[in-house]
Amino acid sequence: MIAQLRFSAWKSFVDPKRSTLPFHATTLLVGPNASGKSNALDALQFLQGLAQDLTVEEVLRGRWEGGRQTWPGIRGGDAEAVWLGASEFQIDTDIHRDGALLRHEIRISTLPRVEVVAERLWRGETLLFDTNMLVAGRPWAQRDGTLLVGYEPSLPRAPHPAVRLRASRAVLVQLQSEPDMHESVLVGAQAVRDELRNLIRLDLQPHLMRSPAPVHASRMGAAGENIAAVLHGLSPRLRDDLVDWLSELCAPQIEGIHFVNVPEVREVYFQLAEGGRRVSSRSLSDGTLRFLGILVALLTAPAGTTIVIEEPDVGLHPSRVHLLAALLERLPNRHSFQVIASTHSPALLAHLSDEALANVLAFGRDPATGASVVARVGDLPAFPALRSSGQRDHLIATGWLERAL
Ligand SMILES: Nc1ncnc2c1ncn2[C@@H]1O[C@H](COP(=O)(O)OP(=O)(O)OP(=O)(O)O)[C@@H](O)[C@H]1O
Ligand SMILES: [Mg+2]
Repeated sequence: MIAQLRFSAWKSFVDPKRSTLPFHATTLLVGPNASGKSNALDALQFLQGLAQDLTVEEVLRGRWEGGRQTWPGIRGGDAEAVWLGASEFQIDTDIHRDGALLRHEIRISTLPRVEVVAERLWRGETLLFDTNMLVAGRPWAQRDGTLLVGYEPSLPRAPHPAVRLRASRAVLVQLQSEPDMHESVLVGAQAVRDELRNLIRLDLQPHLMRSPAPVHASRMGAAGENIAAVLHGLSPRLRDDLVDWLSELCAPQIEGIHFVNVPEVREVYFQLAEGGRRVSSRSLSDGTLRFLGILVALLTAPAGTTIVIEEPDVGLHPSRVHLLAALLERLPNRHSFQVIASTHSPALLAHLSDEALANVLAFGRDPATGASVVARVGDLPAFPALRSSGQRDHLIATGWLERAL
C-alpha cells in the first residue's frame, strides 16, 4: 500500500511540510478547482512511469514506439513538472509492504538536463541505497550523466561499496545484484517497483464501453475498454453482486446481465435485462456505464493494486451517491487494495463513515505563497465540528473545508 507522498517543488506544491499526503484504503481528495488534486495524482503516474523503467525524460514528455504512443507523459511535460521558477523537484514515497515501511526519495532536475540528481531508499531505519552515501555533497555523487550509488553491504564495511549508474533513470530500476550487496537492498527496490507499477488510473469513456470486446480480453482498460469480455468472465457470484449494485442505481429495475457472442469476429457484447426486455450495451446511459466501470474495476482489482479515479461521482444522481460511498469504502478494505479518488461532491463526503471522512485530504492554496497546501481532514482542529454537524454536505458545499485549512 502507498502510505504517503510528500512533495517539494512538484508542480503547484512547494513546502513539503504542507504537501504531505497520507493515504488509506480509501482516500478522497477534495478542494476547489486548480487546488492541486490532479497534480498530486500526476505524481503517482510519474512514479509509475519511473518504475516501468522509462527514462525521466520519457516519463515526463511521453514515449512513442513505431509512431504509436506507449506512454502518455505527464500533463505540462518537463517544463511544468517543477514549481515555476525552480529547477528541481523531490517526491518522497512511503510504502507499507509485508509489515515493513519502505521510504523512497527521489530528486529530479529539469534544467539543464532532465535527470535524477539524488535518490535513496530506506527500510525502517536502515538506509538501503543512497546517491550521497559515500561522499558528502552532490557534485561528487553526480557526474557526466551518472550517479554514484552507495548501498548497504552484506558484511559491515567502511567505506560503503558503490556502483556507478546512469542518471537518466531511477536507481530503483537499475540496481543489480553485487557480490557484497546485502540481499535486503534488491528486495526493497523490487517491492517499491512492484507497488508503483500496480497503479490503475481509471479514465472511463462510456462510448468505448458500449463496443463489443474481444472474447478473450481478461482485463478492463483504463478507459473501460473490454468491459464486455471482463463481465463475461466474472464468476456467477460476482456477477450477482454486480447486478444487485446496478439495480439499486438504475431507475428501471435491473434483473440480470446477458451476453451475445459474435463468433465471426470472436467478440462479445452485453445486455442488461430490465422489465423483461434486454437492452444492449450500445444503448446504456453514460451514468450507468461509468458506475458499471467503477464496479468492475473495484470488484476485480487484484490485491495490492492502487486504483486512482478522478471524480467517480460524475453523472450520478444525488440520490444514488450513497451507493458510490458504500462501494468506495467497503471494497478496498475487504479485498486489500487501495482507492484514491478526487471529488467535488459534498453528497459523497456526507455519506462517508466518520473514519473515512477523517481520512479525506483537503486541498487549498496558501494565500501568501500561492502554493498548494494539503491536510488530512481528521487532523484539522475543526474536524469534530464537521463530524458532529447534521449538515456536512452544506458545510462542504459552502467552502467550509477550505477556510478550515
Ligand atoms: N509547474 C507549476 N508551477 C506552479 N503552479 C502550477 C504548476 N503546474 C500546475 N500548476 C497549478 O496547478 C493548477 C492545476 O491544478 P490541478 O490540475 O491539480 O487542479 P485540481 O485540484 O485537480 O482542479 P479540478 O478540480 O479543476 O480538476 C494550474 O492551474 C496551476 O495553477
Ligand atoms: Mg483535477
